[in-house]
Amino acid sequence: MRRESSIHGQWSSKLVFVLAATGSAVGLGNIWRFPYIAGENGGGAFVLIYLACILLIGLPIMMAEIALGRRGRQSPINTMATLAREEGLHRAWGLVGWLGVTAGFIILSYYSVIAGWSLSYVFRAASGAFAGLDGEGVKNLFEGLVSDPERLLAWHTLFMLMNILVVARGVRSGLEKAVKFLMPALLGMLLILVGYAMTQGHFMQGFAFMFRPDFSQVTGDTILLAMGQAFFTLSLGMGAIMIYGSYLSSRASIFKTSATVVSADTAVALLAGLAIFPIVFASGLEPGAGPGLIFITLPMAFGEMTGGLLFGTLFFLLLVTAAWTSSISLMEPAVAWLVENRGLDRPLAAMIVGGIAWFLGIGTILSFSLWSNPIGFNLTLGGESLFIGGTLFDMADYLTSNIMLPLGGLLIALFVGWRMNRRSVEEELGLRSRVFFKAWYHVLRFAAPIGILLIFLKAVNLI
Ligand code: TRP
Repeated sequence: MRRESSIHGQWSSKLVFVLAATGSAVGLGNIWRFPYIAGENGGGAFVLIYLACILLIGLPIMMAEIALGRRGRQSPINTMATLAREEGLHRAWGLVGWLGVTAGFIILSYYSVIAGWSLSYVFRAASGAFAGLDGEGVKNLFEGLVSDPERLLAWHTLFMLMNILVVARGVRSGLEKAVKFLMPALLGMLLILVGYAMTQGHFMQGFAFMFRPDFSQVTGDTILLAMGQAFFTLSLGMGAIMIYGSYLSSRASIFKTSATVVSADTAVALLAGLAIFPIVFASGLEPGAGPGLIFITLPMAFGEMTGGLLFGTLFFLLLVTAAWTSSISLMEPAVAWLVENRGLDRPLAAMIVGGIAWFLGIGTILSFSLWSNPIGFNLTLGGESLFIGGTLFDMADYLTSNIMLPLGGLLIALFVGWRMNRRSVEEELGLRSRVFFKAWYHVLRFAAPIGILLIFLKAVNLI
């Protein structure tokens, strides 16, 4: 029997789902993570591979994830278990849900810390702290923040409380307004910044950095990082989009909604890059400056431009909002599971999930001060010695984005593409055009899983 809704409720319209899913996708991943990872990996070639991953792996898997969620109508753990049972498959498929929930905790733990940086920058911008700063000045300002664990803990705690508050009341409340007004505002701010970068920055150099590929620099790791970024930015592979799909009405078109979300997300990331790299080159900063990249480039722009005080405050406020609408989706799968299987009420479930992630986040906070020395070991593979490890933040980020999310995505592609009855899949997708369904189905069965596997093998130098 088809389930028409979940016990957690339903989006009031298809538009709300698109807004919620866009809210989940667009976040720190686009504005903070994309530019810094692209910057560390040489730009152009990375960006091109990232775009290919979005299209060939991300979009088809997003459609599969939404279809699974809508068919199962429960938390990802129970959805996977129920669908496996219905399709006569092994119970072990439920582990996909567990993998996702685990990844969600780890991502949320550091996501909240970085969102805390953004919160702190709202107040710095508003107090005029950026005025007249040069490259050295902005770097010092940033260092001053991240080397102070107590301050980071306070911001991290505040942001986590903001998440618990929303998730406790149900992700629908407030989300509609937040996304409908604030997302366009964020886009507007980014356009202003791109405009600034065009006139004041080294725009052509920044543009070339982002779009002129130099494949000689590409290693297996570059490709893995590009794929990891594609999963991260689209919120794929951990059940966030699956659970949002479980609140979607049976009539909405999965393809159209996915295409909208993917386009909006990609546009925001590319605009962020176009705003940031011209400023990097004009001010003699390094594109490979790491996780602090936007926090040292954008304040220079705001410190200099007319209206920078207002624009800067607004920008970081919007960044916090974007992060907020993303991080609630990281909590939702675990919270829904606690409600379904442990009978907790939402507020308590939200507090437990937020509390655990909050605690784990301390590891990230200290990764920038007390525990900033990388830990790990040297591995010799094919005559090449390489260091495996990093700070707790590095490891949390690498493990989730580059391994757990693609692995989750791979399993979802295999489940929907190879194990589920084709008729069930066709029914759920409800694509009117057969040709179109076939195209998607083929990409999901072949291109996406083979792509992920090849990238995994390449990353460990096996091919
Ligand atoms: N996509 C969000 C961003 O780009 C982060 C995010 C939210 C996420 N939910 C997720 C990442 C689920 C991976 C999985 O900022």
